[in-house]
Amino acid sequence: MSNSIFLDTLSGKKTNRPPVWFMRQAGRILPSYQKLKLTHNFDSLMKNKDLASKVTLMPINDLGVDAAILFSDILIIPESMGMNLEFTDNGPKFYNPIVKSGSNSFSFDPSKLNHVYSNIKQIKKDNSSIPLIGFCGGPLTTFLFMFRGNEKDKSFNNALKFFYSNKKESLKILEQITEASVEYVKGQIDSGIDCFQLFETYCGIIPSSLYKELILPFSIKILDVARNKNVPTIFFPKNFNDGLKYINKDICDYVSIDWNLSLEYAREIVDKKVGIQGNMNPRLFYSSNEEINKYLNSLVTFGEKNYDWVFNLGHGFLPDIDYIKVKYVVEWIKETNWNR
Ligand code: CP3
Repeated sequence: MSNSIFLDTLSGKKTNRPPVWFMRQAGRILPSYQKLKLTHNFDSLMKNKDLASKVTLMPINDLGVDAAILFSDILIIPESMGMNLEFTDNGPKFYNPIVKSGSNSFSFDPSKLNHVYSNIKQIKKDNSSIPLIGFCGGPLTTFLFMFRGNEKDKSFNNALKFFYSNKKESLKILEQITEASVEYVKGQIDSGIDCFQLFETYCGIIPSSLYKELILPFSIKILDVARNKNVPTIFFPKNFNDGLKYINKDICDYVSIDWNLSLEYAREIVDKKVGIQGNMNPRLFYSSNEEINKYLNSLVTFGEKNYDWVFNLGHGFLPDIDYIKVKYVVEWIKETNWNR
């Protein structure tokens, strides 16, 4: 793909500004999405290729971002393993969550992911010039959600109790999640994605050393599928904290930093060969324009020196963020002189 500042940056070229896209940019905050949601539920939007493509490409027109991310969800992996999923107004829930040890058998049906591959092909047909980011959930994040049988219970206490008291069985389930995810990434790449991001949103729910020992090998297996096919990879291990010191080029090309850390600190501890993505605090969009400007101006010193940086959030948008402010931030990034 020619003329993409996003892919150029990922491949190590020097560009005159950082590229910009946002986690959770597909859906949620856009008025055109909210209008669609009045007549369609989330699941039906994901399963209709024309609508899924429309929602994926909305942020390109409505916000002016440099890349699109596939409109889908990380929880279709457990669904493809035989779990019965519903996206309610309060979030996702499983009708047959994991409850006790010894009674969990999963059977992966790859055909349940076919709609995603048709969506990718449709998106590429509708817009062949914008890079498309594919994704799947990190093994730990996916595992935790498989215990959520009540959408109102946002804690993962049951899942964590199970993990600590049934390590062997947990690792078996994590392995099954990984096997399904590996097939899923292959399918996304064969359908035409240009970049792959692994969302390990709950990485920080266990100590970083434990994540490194037990979960990171699974994450690497999933990321390796893309790396071996020369598709650039971004890893988002949210709240990995001092664990970022374990990140190197054998794991991923870019690492996405959450908003708890400063970019400068992250740059210091992450291997120099790995690029950085992030990390605006999404709640800053609730602040005044002066405060947003102050934050943006503070980025120039970092952006002037670091060519291997992709502007993004430190976590996804919240649904009530004003998209006009987001549009302003995109324009600011594009129009600022980054002294490069
Ligand atoms: O970034 C994007 O916009 C691309 C599509 C995308 C969705 N979910 C669509 C979605 C991506 C990358 C995800 C990832 C995801 N899904 C994660 C990891 C990253 C993160 O943001 O934390 C997690 C933990 C999930 C599980 C999930 N899906 C939750 C907890 C919820 C409910 C709360 C919420 O975030 O809205 C969803 C629903 C969901 N997934 C929506 C969208 C657009 C909202 C559904 C709606 O519009 O009704």
